[in-house]
Amino acid sequence: MVNYDFKRHRRLRRTESMRALVRETKLSKDDLIYPIFVVEGEDIRKEVPSMPGVYHVSLDHLTEEMQQLETLGIRSVIVFGVPQEKDAHGSQAYCETGIVQQAIRQIKRYVPSLTVIADTCLCQYTDHGHCGVVENGEILNDPSLELLVETAVSQAKAGADIIAPSNMMDGFVAAIRHGLDEHGYKDIPVMSYAVKYASAFYGPFRDAAHSSPQFGDRKAYQMDPANRLEAIREAESDVEEGADFLIVKPALSYLDIMREVKDRFNAPLVAYNVSGEYSMIKAAAQNGWVNEKEIVMEKLTSMKRAGADLIITYHAKDAAQWLSE
Ligand code: PBG
Ligand code: ZN
Repeated sequence: MVNYDFKRHRRLRRTESMRALVRETKLSKDDLIYPIFVVEGEDIRKEVPSMPGVYHVSLDHLTEEMQQLETLGIRSVIVFGVPQEKDAHGSQAYCETGIVQQAIRQIKRYVPSLTVIADTCLCQYTDHGHCGVVENGEILNDPSLELLVETAVSQAKAGADIIAPSNMMDGFVAAIRHGLDEHGYKDIPVMSYAVKYASAFYGPFRDAAHSSPQFGDRKAYQMDPANRLEAIREAESDVEEGADFLIVKPALSYLDIMREVKDRFNAPLVAYNVSGEYSMIKAAAQNGWVNEKEIVMEKLTSMKRAGADLIITYHAKDAAQWLSE
């Protein structure tokens, strides 16, 4: 045999313990944020048809659901409310006895160790299904801000640990930061959906949250998937306005954006592994076409490798279980 002169990369891949020594990215249970859909009514724990393994839960099942997270070692949850009543101004979003406000109060009372993140938007609460105030078929920016601030303050008042505005109006971070400060919530961080694309990957979520727009689409406020520089502008303004965390959403098709945002801005970065990304894997796994555990761990690890510090994911419970094995 000729003695070639080349680099032997495979030396570091010989055994699992050797691979563990040189592993660059590690996923931990502390990275996971679990989304939960809370509905009005009693004794409801109903699977969302387009999201196998994800449930609508009513308040009387919420505490046990949260205790299960605690047992699995998941320490944060993001709460989405699915109200019965909708109106033009989404008034259930900022009502003191709204479903989310009740859910937050209950979690903080019975499972206080969980960090509760409140999603701040109007689309589940408006009869037209848009994330802001509508006039003549247009989504108005500044009038929407007032309602969003009211929503954020009511969530903080209910005990939310973090406010996560997802509405994509301009100036929402500045408005909400100001509103929180004014009401004595200076210590409540804002986790901004800074970079949020108008994406077909949200399909199953809109089934789950009953939040599909009743006319048009969200392209006049969510971003064009073709744009990269615009993502930097969005993240930049949110950092200037006082965002404490930045979210990039969706995750899988936008790992390049995540890396860029991480490299440019010194703020904890959150990947939102959205509903469509979840359901595609679930469907393929149910058909026996992919190995669910391996594919989920691979994609969550990829998000961290791309720069995410935290991941909002419907796989959180499964992943926590697998991380404990
Ligand atoms: C809207 C909102 C969306 C999601 C959460 N809040 C997107 C949308 O309907 O435009 C998507 C989450 C998911 O797909 O998992 N404020
Ligand atoms: Zn919305």
